[in-house]
Amino acid sequence: MTDLKDLELILRTRTPLIAVETREESRAIALFRRAALAGGLPLYRWSAVDGLSRLDAEQAPQRSLAEPDRLLAHVRVSQGGGIYLLLDFHPYLDDPLTIRRLREIAQREATPAPTLALIGPSVPMPDELRDSSARLELRLPDQAAVRTIIEEEAAAWGQRHQRRLQVRGVVLDALARNLMGLTANDVRRLARNAIHDDGALTEADLPALAEAKYRLLDSGSVLSFELETARMADVAGLARLKAWLDMRRSVFLADSPPPGLDAPKGVLLLGVQGAGKSLAAKACAGAFGVPLLRLDFATLYNKFYGETERNLREALATAGQMAPCVLWIDEIEKGLASDSEGGPSRRILGTLLTWMAEREDPVFLVATANDVESLPPELLRKGRFDEIFFVDLPAAQVRAEIFAIHLDKRGQPREGFALDALAAAADGFSGAEIEQAVVASLYAAHARGTALADADLLAELARTRPLSVLMAEKIAYLRAWAAARTVPAD
Ligand SMILES: Nc1ncnc2c1ncn2[C@@H]1O[C@H](COP(=O)(O)OP(=O)(O)OP(=O)(O)O)[C@@H](O)[C@H]1O
Ligand SMILES: [Mg+2]
Repeated sequence: MTDLKDLELILRTRTPLIAVETREESRAIALFRRAALAGGLPLYRWSAVDGLSRLDAEQAPQRSLAEPDRLLAHVRVSQGGGIYLLLDFHPYLDDPLTIRRLREIAQREATPAPTLALIGPSVPMPDELRDSSARLELRLPDQAAVRTIIEEEAAAWGQRHQRRLQVRGVVLDALARNLMGLTANDVRRLARNAIHDDGALTEADLPALAEAKYRLLDSGSVLSFELETARMADVAGLARLKAWLDMRRSVFLADSPPPGLDAPKGVLLLGVQGAGKSLAAKACAGAFGVPLLRLDFATLYNKFYGETERNLREALATAGQMAPCVLWIDEIEKGLASDSEGGPSRRILGTLLTWMAEREDPVFLVATANDVESLPPELLRKGRFDEIFFVDLPAAQVRAEIFAIHLDKRGQPREGFALDALAAAADGFSGAEIEQAVVASLYAAHARGTALADADLLAELARTRPLSVLMAEKIAYLRAWAAARTVPAD
């Protein structure tokens, strides 16, 4: 169905009042023009500034009808029906007399009867008028339409600057995907800004565009937009998780999944502290090339006491509008630990489970947890997450890679170090602990005024008692628990 079909359907039912909530006034007017033309109906436009004018024929505007009361009195006795577009009429709906006048027009048994369309950013219909009114929702542009708008903006820029703006097809697709969920006007504005800042449209524009879109959609919710995603290359190990994501990337990004395949919904990453769960969650967004939104349960509970469910629902709806995106819930067990029956976290869990089961937008949920005992069993049931991955302490090979990644990152090329020996000495260390060892030894070397050497790292490792030693029992329990319920991430 198109907007025009929707409108024609409403017109055919002879509903006297139509509420059109939109920030795209000109688009709404254009739509009514087409419907009026097709139906051979007179079309009028009213605003408090210009009064009443006729859109489908030459006729001098009637400024004397700028007063809403006079306009309604005029429509009430008018002959010939037609559609009256009332622009920004909603402030007058506060007045009981205005409401009554509208009601009398709506109840008038004239043929042909006039139709009044109230067009504005928000058109709250008073109860008295609800039965005689319908709502028309303008559809947001789909991916193809968004793509066309971006192409138009690129062409317009090219014409103005006498040079062609080259945009690669994959970039166009990614931009179009990322700007869906916005009105045509907003898409145009954001695309124009992205072109104008540097006269180009590339992958580099994606994060800023996603953030600008998030700012348009979000109204101070408990979601945060994480500019910093990670690349899978920043994550050592977790080979199975990486392969799993790799295999699903194209299906996740497809407009609709190929026949027989379900769209990927999300994963739960369970595991040992510091083993890279949060890092991997961020890298999921990097792997899919989509924005990363983080839902913080602590904020949800603290900031909006008593309104937690509504805020969660709003946050989830915003995530839907940002789709395709990754929604990251870190340490999910902390927000859902079971309290007394009917307590807030039970209801939050209910809201979340319902959303997980019913959502249709491509929002990929990545949740992390390390305390399995406080995880509500409902969350682990088959079908909630596509997969539950267990993130264990890194094996020797992976530890070597973690050293390499963090040495490289700090300007210490990996080639200068005996990675295998370091990995052997870091048996039982988590990724976080290895990173800490690199940081601490760099300080030591800096203090001494010498270059970082294997010996510094080995000394640092020898000084550290990894958590896996201090918490051996807990980790053993976690592994046993995970063996039966999860898939290894590496
Ligand atoms: N596999 C890894 N590859 C590269 N770096 C890693 C890896 N694992 C951990 N790190 C480093 O350790 C830091 C901390 O890890 P992260 O916060 O992801 O662990 P976590 O499993 O979420 O821990 P926690 O359970 O404490 O939340 C990461 O930001 C990263 O720098
Ligand atoms: Mg973490």
